[in-house]
This record gives sequence, structure tokens and C-alpha cells, in this order.
Amino acid sequence: MPDAPRTILVTSALPYANGPIHLGHLVEYIQTDIWVRFQRAAGNHCLYVCADDAHGTPIMLRAERDGITPESLIEAVGVEHRADFRDFFVEFDHYHTTHSEENRALATFIYERLRDGGHIAVREIRQAYDPVKEMFLPDRYIRGTCPRCRAADQYGDSCESCGATYTPTDLINPVSVLSGQPPIERESEHHFVKLADFEPMLREWVAGTGPGGRPRVQPEIANKLAEWFDSGLRDWDISRDAPYFGFEIPGAPGKYFYVWLDAPIGYMASFRALCGRRPDLDFDAYWGAGSKAELYHFIGKDIAYFHTLFWPAQLHGAGFRTPSAVFCHGFLTVNGQKMSKSRGTFVKARTYLEHLDPEYLRYYFACKLGAGIDDIDLSLDDFVQRVNADLVGKVVNIASRCAGFIARGSDGMLADALEDPALHDRFVAAGDSIAAHYEGREYGRAQREIMALADLANQYIDERKPWVLAKQPGTAAEVQAVCTMGINLFRVIATYLAPVLPRLARKVEAFLGCGPTSWTAVTEPVLGRRIAPYEPLLTRVDPAKVAAMVEASKEELAPVAAPVRAPDAGPASPPSEPIAAEITIDDFARVDLRVARVVAADLVEGADKLLRLTLDVGSEQRTVFSGIRAAYEPAALVGRLVVLVANLKPRKMRFGVSEGMVLASGPGGSDIWLVTPDEGAVPGQRVR
Ligand code: MSP
Ligand code: ZN
Repeated sequence: MPDAPRTILVTSALPYANGPIHLGHLVEYIQTDIWVRFQRAAGNHCLYVCADDAHGTPIMLRAERDGITPESLIEAVGVEHRADFRDFFVEFDHYHTTHSEENRALATFIYERLRDGGHIAVREIRQAYDPVKEMFLPDRYIRGTCPRCRAADQYGDSCESCGATYTPTDLINPVSVLSGQPPIERESEHHFVKLADFEPMLREWVAGTGPGGRPRVQPEIANKLAEWFDSGLRDWDISRDAPYFGFEIPGAPGKYFYVWLDAPIGYMASFRALCGRRPDLDFDAYWGAGSKAELYHFIGKDIAYFHTLFWPAQLHGAGFRTPSAVFCHGFLTVNGQKMSKSRGTFVKARTYLEHLDPEYLRYYFACKLGAGIDDIDLSLDDFVQRVNADLVGKVVNIASRCAGFIARGSDGMLADALEDPALHDRFVAAGDSIAAHYEGREYGRAQREIMALADLANQYIDERKPWVLAKQPGTAAEVQAVCTMGINLFRVIATYLAPVLPRLARKVEAFLGCGPTSWTAVTEPVLGRRIAPYEPLLTRVDPAKVAAMVEASKEELAPVAAPVRAPDAGPASPPSEPIAAEITIDDFARVDLRVARVVAADLVEGADKLLRLTLDVGSEQRTVFSGIRAAYEPAALVGRLVVLVANLKPRKMRFGVSEGMVLASGPGGSDIWLVTPDEGAVPGQRVR
């Protein structure tokens, strides 16, 4: 552990204020909170701020739909978000909102600095406009038929069926999701940040290193950045026309800052609000160009562009310091698939809390988290098994095995000396490597090392067998010595787990009657003192509760009948497609349906909605591109049977030729269900 305490400011991405916190979000907040708690346990000054991201069109429209003002919507959602974080033990020093005076002042200031530096361009652009709703339409609010594959009801920016990307004007028969009417085109003046002005500075920032010589971005993100630089940094459109929920741009009436302009500034605004209640903190010492403090942003990989290009450019252009590093994580899948409302795996934080202990999830995520950007999977069976085996079976077991003997055999008193000081030393020494893993966000490795220590502690107790000793006369001192040793080993383990399991750590402190556990405190064992009666520290995960949580998440799926599905409106409407016109059996026989087995399922570079399926059709293999990426993890598909339309005319796509189509139902996105023959059907067999 380095001697001089570091001064660190940490943020997590600001959740949108129009929806609840769900388990996917929690990957990030738990990851960040563990890191912050670790830094403090290691003796560093570490502050953690966050806020609700309160601006933008979806929030404005959601409030309108609910018949309330955006201000009362974000207020209500803010209260829920705070409660969710608190109950998952995600502890911020300050939690703010981007719809605040601090943020308005800072956003205005940064914009004016950029403008005065000559980095803002103003020009007219043509954009889709809803003449009924009288507003410009973001791409996602326009739907129509895909110009490439003719799939109906596709978003204005991309086709979920064939993966094409385009602009809303390319859509066939486009309609506004808001009014159902065709949009018209309209000109409007927009403000842009000339991102290319910052290319040299950004290249330097990315290539540089942060404190301790550590890279500023992960290798995968560095590669992405290289691609972005190669394809050229385009001007960034930072204005939106009224009606918009946000801050009006100074000197441009009716124009508002785009939500992503003021969102990251919300990090600063939250910190400024914290300074307001903590006079010992100096805003400039953290954000000024010459700041010596370390600044880290934890984010999901979907928002890397905003944090590694726009944000450092904004900061630099306005004369502030840039981030020390940006830490990206992958996305959460549940049981190998994208979270899905219909499967009950889109679990809200609150629903989880109604059924399960938050520390289970903190531990499970910790086990799964590494420094990379791979997606992480919450397998619900594995979750039950892992928490029970590790936390209950290994860790808590140590304390519960020893506590009773101390309580009964020696009146709650611990022995005056350690029975095996070398073993305790070994536990203390393991702290360095565990600390390095936490520091490097390799939490999974840290947990594995901690569990190896738990195994050693249990082995120690198994060998000494206090339950056998206790039955023999004259062994009271020996039993006390063995159990004192066990309890001290347990204390070291609880300390190493404390960033992950803060409530367990507090219970252990109360049990042992010693001060807060810390990496340095455990070098001194607790001896010769009375400990409190043992209270259960953590109970087993009940699989029935997990099942109940999934059921409850399904029940929340209230069907909404709407002619067109608005983006982020949540659940799809119940199937309402009319039955198609009658055909004869001969018509049907023209469609050659075959059983096929998935041999391989691969991601398609440049098409994030598609999978490339390699299918075994008995006599031959086929390649089929299928828009099911959002619903299925590729690995989970391999080996499974599907139904192939085998005589569909091959279609040439940007990524290759698609030789057929697999059958599936559902409206699209993550709500897709493949049609699957029962096992036993043979690839190549005709389906009739
Ligand atoms: N408001 C923006 C962030 C602005 S930061 C200046 C936003 N909000 S969000 O609510 O959509 O997401 C908040 C964070 O949660 C993001 O970092 C996002 O990547 C993360 N996650 C949201 N869903 C997630 C999963 N399913 N899995 C893992 N992380 C996820 O983006
Ligand atoms: Zn298409």
C-alpha cells in the first residue's frame, strides 16, 4: 500500500430520470461503489458523486404522457433512484440532478468558453418535423418501412430486421411515433462543437497515462478511438429546438443545450453542490487545469464516445483539467440473454430488494467483474449456488463454527495469543495482492483469492476439530485458542470483503467490538477481549425467492395498447396483427420449411442487431443473417434446433449473402422468440 494518501474523485454515469434503476444499471453503481470503498479502506481520500440525468426529449414526453410537469417527474424519479441506491449500499457523497442551478451555470460557462475560443459553429440543418405535434423529431421517434429489406415498422436510424443504417428520410412511408402522421422536413439553425479542433489534444490525452502510469482507457476503447480518429471527427450537434426540456442556450432564444452537452457537466455540478456543504473542499483543486486530484469516470461501453471524445474536449476547451482515466464495463445479460421484460429478467432494483438481500448481488457482481469491457452474465442458478457456497458455506461458516465455543466455553473471551501466528501472517500478507486486484478493478480475482483464504481457515478448523476437543476434559484453553484463531482469520477475510459487503463488515465490527475494519487494522489481531453474542451474519439464498422475483418482474408487464410503439415506452402491445388473407394448402406447400441445427452463431461487425448463423440443414450448411442479436446471446444458440425457410431467394446484404430465414415470433428488439422443434427432430427434415 503506498504511504501518501491519494486525493480521488469518482463518478458513475448519471441515470436518466425517466425510468427506474434496474439490475443492469447496478453493475455500474456497485462496481464504482466497491472501488470507492476500497480506496477509503486503503487510506485514500476518495469522493463519489453522481446525479440524475434529467433533460431531453424522452423525459419531456414521458411527463406529458403522465400529465405532470417534467420538474415533478424528475423529482419523483430522483426520490426513487436515491432510495434504490441507498438500499443497495451504493453510498454517494453527493447525489444531484442535472436540472440544477449549479449545472446551468457550469454548462453556460463551458459553452461560452468554447464559443469565445472559436469552437462553436452555427448553421442550418434540415430535419424531420412533426407538423401536428409541432416539434422536430429525433430519429428514434420516426418509424417506417426499411428501404433495404422492406421490413415494416422500423426505427428512423436503423433496421432491426436487416441491420441497415440510414437516415429517417430514407424510410418508406415514415410516420411520427408521436402523432402517427408523416413528418415533413424543416430547416433550423443548430449549434455545433467543432470536435476536430480538439483532435491533437484528444490524441495526446488518449495516448498519455494517468497517475501511476496507468492507461487512460482500456485497450478495447483505445482501438475504438483509433477507428473514430481514422473516420474523422465530425462536428457535434449540441443544440435542440423548443419544445425541449433543458437549458436554453445563452444568446439563442428557443434553442436548448442537447442533453448530452450538460449531462457530463452534471458531474462537476454535483461536486460543486457538495462543496457547498463541505467548506473543506475546494472546487478548483479538483477541476482546475492544474489539479493534482485524480478524476475517474465509471461508465458503460455504450457511452464511451461521449466520455472519451466529447467530454475531454469540453473540459479542455473550457480550461478545466481532463479525466485521469475512464473505466468502461460491459453489459449485463441474465441467463445468457439480454434482459427481457417478457421473460421476467428485466428486474428493477426495487423488485430485487423486495425478494433478496442486496449483498448477494454485490458479491455476485464482484465475482463476475474484471477490468475489461466484456458483458457480464447473471445466471440465476449460478447466483444461488455461488452465494450459498462461498458466502454462507465458506465465509460465514468460519465465524459460526467458532463463536459458540467462545461464548459457552470461555464466557465470550478471546484468548490472549494466536495459536498459529504464521497462518495469520499469511492472511495479512495476502492483502497486498487482493488490494492490487481491487485497485485494478479485477474484483473477480480478488474474490477468488479471498475464497482461497476462507478455504484455508476452514481447513485449519477442520484439522484442529474444536468440537471434538470440547468434549474432552481440560481442553478449554485449547478450544479457546483454536476458536480465537478462527475468529481472527474470519476478521481478516471480512475486511477484505468489506468493499463488497459493507453491511457484513459492520456486523462483524459489532460482533468483535473492535473499530472499523481496515487493511492496516487487521495486521493487529483481536485478542484477550470479550466479543458479543453471535448473530447470524447472512442467510442462504432461497431459490424460491429468486423465482418469485422473476415472476414479479413478469407481472409488472402491463400491456399497453398503442397503435405505434414509442421508443422506451416499455412493454410491447399484445399481438394485434390481423390474420392474413386465406391461402390454399398448395400455396403453403410452396414454402419449404426445414429443421436446422445452429452450428455457429457469430456477431456481425458493423451490425449490432444481427447474428450470423451457420445452420446444419442435413445435406448442407447455410449462412443466415438474423436480426435476433438483442434477444439471444450467440453462445446460447449453438446446438439448438430452429426452423429455416429453405427456399427463400438468397438476399445479398452488406455483410454477405443470407441464404434463407429462421422463423421467430414477436415484435422485435429483445422480444423475439425463435420457433424451435422438439429435440428429436432431425436437421433437413421438412416442416409441414
Ligand atoms: N444518462 C446517460 C449517462 C450520462 S453520463 C454523463 C445514460 N443513462 S442510462 O440510465 O441509460 O445508463 C446509466 C449507466 O448505466 C450507463 O453507464 C449505462 O452504460 C449503464 N447501463 C444501463 N444498462 C446497462 C446494462 N444492462 N448493463 C450494464 N450497464 C448498463 O446512459
Ligand atoms: Zn431492413
